[in-house]
Amino acid sequence: MIGYRMPTRTHIAPGCRSRLSEVTASLAVERVLLVIDPGLQATSWPDDIQGILGSGPTGSSSHVERFTDVEPNPRTHTASRIAERMRASDLQCVVALGGGSVLDAAKAGAMLATNPGTPEQYEGPNLYTNRPRPMIAIPTTCGTGSEVTWVSVLSHPESRRKISVKGETMFPDQALVDADLIRTLPASLVAWTGLDALTHALEATTCTIANPVSDALAEKAIVLLFHHLERAVTDIEGDAEAREAVMRASTVAGLSFSNADVAGVHCLSESIGGIFDVPHGLANAILLEPLLRYHRPFVDRRLAELEVLIHPQTDAAQPVAERADRFLERLSDLTSRLETPSFSSFGIPPDDYPLIAEQAVRNGSNSSNPQPMAAENYLEVLAGLS
Ligand SMILES: [Fe+2]
Repeated sequence: MIGYRMPTRTHIAPGCRSRLSEVTASLAVERVLLVIDPGLQATSWPDDIQGILGSGPTGSSSHVERFTDVEPNPRTHTASRIAERMRASDLQCVVALGGGSVLDAAKAGAMLATNPGTPEQYEGPNLYTNRPRPMIAIPTTCGTGSEVTWVSVLSHPESRRKISVKGETMFPDQALVDADLIRTLPASLVAWTGLDALTHALEATTCTIANPVSDALAEKAIVLLFHHLERAVTDIEGDAEAREAVMRASTVAGLSFSNADVAGVHCLSESIGGIFDVPHGLANAILLEPLLRYHRPFVDRRLAELEVLIHPQTDAAQPVAERADRFLERLSDLTSRLETPSFSSFGIPPDDYPLIAEQAVRNGSNSSNPQPMAAENYLEVLAGLS
């Protein structure tokens, strides 16, 4: 049971990245590692952020180095390389500018900078000794939520699986959630990362350790996403209201699952991502509706409540199963309109389904599923997708 906690000081407003120099000054750090990925390196955002870092009230972050090698589904050795760089250049703080991959790699790197060994040694909660180096998270997608969570999910290529490294002091110290940063995000990434955020909120509010705080946060994120995600995908650059709504929803959904858990969708998507290196958000977008349907009737009451929230004209006296049906139809309509590909587009051979199912069961969030999920249950889900 997790009691509500949120140690990350979180700024949510368009343009709030301008506060970065105040933030580094407040942390009293002068030597900073800016972590990005190659895609972002090709944009003007890293220069924009580096300019702000150098313009502090005390000229605080006068020395900034860049680490640009984070891959999608970041590898354990990438986190180790970030840590080595921080130690070698005596860097005091990591500023992570990017999607979930960048934030997760940087988060583990900040921990490994002060703790010996490899990420695999720290799989699980609170297994390290020393406090990580300070971290500032600046998300550039509307999906990760990693800016307000304690977990770093890393791919371990040797074992073809993902590991979760987490700790009470791995929450970023501060997060700057600035919708300006997703203004140029490609439509497909707005869709996939937005559906990842929707997955975070829906899994948080249907999992076994949902609580009143995580439920309230999940409801807010779900309503925002149902009302704004399609608009944001259609015109992320021109529709400021939708852009800000999905960015806010992403962090609020992160706050929700950070204080509850995710469940079977992430157990499967992390298993598949560890083996086949598929995009996390896309995998969740494909798996979300089938898993929720598999969990019926255990999730019906919650889905029925959500149906009334996102569509207030719904008659709340309607039977629970009917309202849950309607909610799932809405979800199906949304994912179709966002042109979510089919599961078969991954080209995963059915011979690998047993391995996927076995690794899903080993996921730390498996026990949070609305109903117990063994390997045969995941195999049933996978068979239904083919
Ligand atoms: Fe996710």
